[in-house]
Amino acid sequence: MAPMAKTKPGAPPPPAEEIPEGLLHGELITDEDRRDHSLRPHSLKEFLGQAAMKENLEVFIKAAKARQESLDHLFLIGPPGLGKTTLAQVIAHELETEIVQTSAPALDRPKDLVGILTNLKERNVFFIDEIHRLKPAIEEMLYIAMEDYELDWVIGQGPGARTLRIPIKPFTLVGATTKAGNVSSPLVSRFGIPCRFSFYEKADMEAIVRRSAGILETKIDDTAASLLAASARGTPRVANRLLRRMRDFAQVSGAPSITRPVVEDALRRLEIDHLGLEKQDREILAMIIKRYNGGPVGAETLAISMGEGVDTLEDYYEPYLIQAGLLQRTPRGRMATALAYEHLKIPGGDTRVQGERGNENSGLLF
Ligand SMILES: Nc1ncnc2c1ncn2[C@@H]1O[C@H](COP(=O)(O)OP(=O)(O)OP(=O)(O)O)[C@@H](O)[C@H]1O
Ligand SMILES: [Mg+2]
Repeated sequence: MAPMAKTKPGAPPPPAEEIPEGLLHGELITDEDRRDHSLRPHSLKEFLGQAAMKENLEVFIKAAKARQESLDHLFLIGPPGLGKTTLAQVIAHELETEIVQTSAPALDRPKDLVGILTNLKERNVFFIDEIHRLKPAIEEMLYIAMEDYELDWVIGQGPGARTLRIPIKPFTLVGATTKAGNVSSPLVSRFGIPCRFSFYEKADMEAIVRRSAGILETKIDDTAASLLAASARGTPRVANRLLRRMRDFAQVSGAPSITRPVVEDALRRLEIDHLGLEKQDREILAMIIKRYNGGPVGAETLAISMGEGVDTLEDYYEPYLIQAGLLQRTPRGRMATALAYEHLKIPGGDTRVQGERGNENSGLLF
């Protein structure tokens, strides 16, 4: 049976040992990821930022509740750590229903999906993470489930085989992915509400930092919160991680609160620069510039040169570098922009492409 978790949103987080072990973008889920559950917003009100997306969702949720119908299926698209899993849980909370969570690689056989779908109660939320990794047989089964709230189940073999249509309760599928381009168009077209996450605005990041500091009962000065927010690559998960590190540095140095000098010192030690780039981000840009003459270089070649997985490069590093205007994806490969040369203080960028900032994601797709 596929690993599955059924929880009432808003309920206290499960004990750490109940959260399945697994891989998270090539990293093992650490104790810190488990602790992050306590910082997860439960309601739309607590879910900060993504204003356009949130406003629309509020309307759709209200309308579905008033009609006493299941909410249309949602497709959540965006880089890691921007709040896809969180939003799925928030939606279940707002719909006052339960959420059943799994991820595509865990749905190994059609039987796994049948087991989950036939156990769903009316208007439950069913969350499938990494939906771009569904097996074809499971995906086809999901088409009918999404459209007609029925399942096709084949019994017997050969000429005597029969297909049974099993009715299931109306439910809301929430599918999340970091790779929208890898999801087949028949599946995409069955989601009524596509939501594309943007990197968070600075003001929203600051609000997230302050909220998390409050929950962690950690004092942080306004100027410190502002610098931390600007250095967290527009990503709440990164902001929460940095906040914990700052808290460590403040505690060990005996500072009563996180002040701007504490943040500055910690960022220096963590090798995070004023654009929020980590060492690995700068090394990627330096590799393109120095070894590949600024590009274009193919993603796979670049990933091998960096000793990274191509998925990590494409899902984690590139979206932020593109948004920051430092990298461009072209049909011939990745290119460092003039801004990347300038940022790394490498001469020769004058003739390079000018990066465009922040044009990748914006609110709902339609
Ligand atoms: N809008 C938000 N407001 C406040 N905190 C948030 C928000 N979105 C996310 N977070 C925080 O960031 C953490 C990471 O979010 P989440 O796990 O939902 O990201 P994700 O998009 O599902 O990432 P992945 O692609 O790696 O699965 C959450 O645990 C939560 O603490
Ligand atoms: Mg997630």
